[in-house]
Amino acid sequence: FSLCFDLSIGESYVLDDKIGLGRTFDGIGGLSGGGPNFGASLQILKVEIGGDAQTTDGTEPSHMHYENDENFFRGYEWWLMREAKKRNPNITLIGLPWAFPGWVGHGKNWPYDFPDITASYVVSWILGAEQYHDLNIDYVGIWNERNFDSKYIKVLRDTLDKVGLTGVGIIAADGNWDVSNAMGVDPYLNDAVEVVGAHYPGTTTVIEALKTQKKLWSSEDYSTFNDEVGGGCWARILNQNYINGLMTATISWNLVASYYEDLPFGRDGLMTAEEPWTGNYVVESPIWITAHTTQFSQPGWTYLQTVGHLVHGGSYVALTDSKGNLTVVIETMTHDHSVCIRPPLLPFNVTAQNVTFQLKGSFASIKELQVWQSKFDFKTKKPFFFKKLSPLKIYDGSFTLSLDVDAVYTLTTISTGQKGTYPDPPASGPFPKVYFDDFNVANPSFSEAPYFADQTGVFEYYINLTDPGPHVFTLRQVVTQMPVTWATDADQTISVIGDYKWQNLTVMCDVFMETVKTGGVFIAVRVDKGGQSVRSAKGVFFWVFADGSYKVTNDLVGKTVLAEGLSGTRAYGWHTLTLTVEGEYATGLLNGYPLWKDAVVLGPKNGWAAIGTHSFELAQFDNFAVEVK
Ligand code: GAL
Ligand code: CA
Repeated sequence: FSLCFDLSIGESYVLDDKIGLGRTFDGIGGLSGGGPNFGASLQILKVEIGGDAQTTDGTEPSHMHYENDENFFRGYEWWLMREAKKRNPNITLIGLPWAFPGWVGHGKNWPYDFPDITASYVVSWILGAEQYHDLNIDYVGIWNERNFDSKYIKVLRDTLDKVGLTGVGIIAADGNWDVSNAMGVDPYLNDAVEVVGAHYPGTTTVIEALKTQKKLWSSEDYSTFNDEVGGGCWARILNQNYINGLMTATISWNLVASYYEDLPFGRDGLMTAEEPWTGNYVVESPIWITAHTTQFSQPGWTYLQTVGHLVHGGSYVALTDSKGNLTVVIETMTHDHSVCIRPPLLPFNVTAQNVTFQLKGSFASIKELQVWQSKFDFKTKKPFFFKKLSPLKIYDGSFTLSLDVDAVYTLTTISTGQKGTYPDPPASGPFPKVYFDDFNVANPSFSEAPYFADQTGVFEYYINLTDPGPHVFTLRQVVTQMPVTWATDADQTISVIGDYKWQNLTVMCDVFMETVKTGGVFIAVRVDKGGQSVRSAKGVFFWVFADGSYKVTNDLVGKTVLAEGLSGTRAYGWHTLTLTVEGEYATGLLNGYPLWKDAVVLGPKNGWAAIGTHSFELAQFDNFAVEVK
């Protein structure tokens, strides 16, 4: 693999610590575990502080749906953080809100009018993490990619300090670099912020950010389809975020692509695990690209000042633990094989080249380096990742490598790297064509029912203590007010399930409205949109209302009516809805009896099944069943 010791002409680079070191390395992370020396060995886990609102591929539940509510067992982030800590007890934990429950904004779509309320809401999440899960959160952010507010940041700092969370650092502002301008003119703000975090910085920073003398992080990056170009993007930015922008941590949105692929940004994770019904998962190239750095350096190591670009394209970084260990990561990704989703990538050239590294300072005495290589092979499609090559013997403090293009090399004194083995994942397969859930789970490990992907509102397991029997355990929509949003949530709530390719099917569900007169619920098929475009979702929606009427609409907003009439439905009673769509015709049953039939459906041709409510209102669902033709 083209590693040789020939002294052919090439460029020469020095790796030296005598001249002083560079910045302290803070790690590589995923947004939403890892373990030292297995796979990606992630050093940072950043999670969303659920705000009951749509944040790209769904909603995440808040720990405080209402002002007097507190529950630290909702959603999957607590579980994820605990599992990450089991694998890497030193993993850095970060929490960041995208959205907030409506009460935090007092009905306004803005979280900063009552900074004390917002701060204590966020701090209660950190306290709950510690109290209920023994998780110490290391950093907290402001409001993902939205305005920051200097007053709020200072109030947050005070609120943290007052409850003894002086060790929790504030990252600001998870958007562009602008917060550094504000920090430059406000010393109190400057004191409150520990890390300046920018998103998708394109590997560069700005002078104002450097002037703060704070840690600079790419606190969200990547978001690229995880094929080999995605792996190439990740390889390039992991090195160059430091070389060009002095950023000492890079966090991938997202950690694992675990959502329906037809939702926005399908497969934009370090790996893919999008079929919980089969358990299939795919370890994609970004995992192994991560390992090139994470298995051979830890947060607290320091970059050398001698890092940079290679003369014929590509780049190298070097890190040390200041105890004699040295890790060098070289990437030679070509332009077209390393384009990230954003920002645009200016042209550059990379060609195969010979490079000589001279080891100076405390590295002069190194006699051997372990060598790991990944090679993207876009031509023959025979790539290999994270392969251990024979160690490199070093004579008179220098070595020469013949570098291929589209490759990543790690040269290191650390000998604990391992690719590891794992059993073959279960075979991939589509969502089952016959599916049923009675939600009869007494002590669910998760608040959410399997495979339902909430797109507006939050659907939780619920226990009806007074129910005579058939509906003790149900699924309940619990958000009663439009949240302080991040995206444009719908005015209705909706949770999708199944397979986007579904066309002809029957969905059946027991429904229970909890709002007299104005309440309404639906079941739906062929739902064509989720994520940030959920408001414009089309499909076939069968609604019943607490005023005794029904409607069949072609859209979630309910503008295009395909059929309507009287149903006799009311709140506080269970009703069974059945919806069948076959070709261009839809038919609906109420409690097993025909209510309407042959409504003409011209589109969409396919989509998910769904349940939901007419507004932000409480309602329950039970015995959800699907049968696909
Ligand atoms: C970011 C955002 C993420 C996700 C991502 C998709 O701007 O913070 O939540 O939406 O874009 O590329
Ligand atoms: Ca049930």
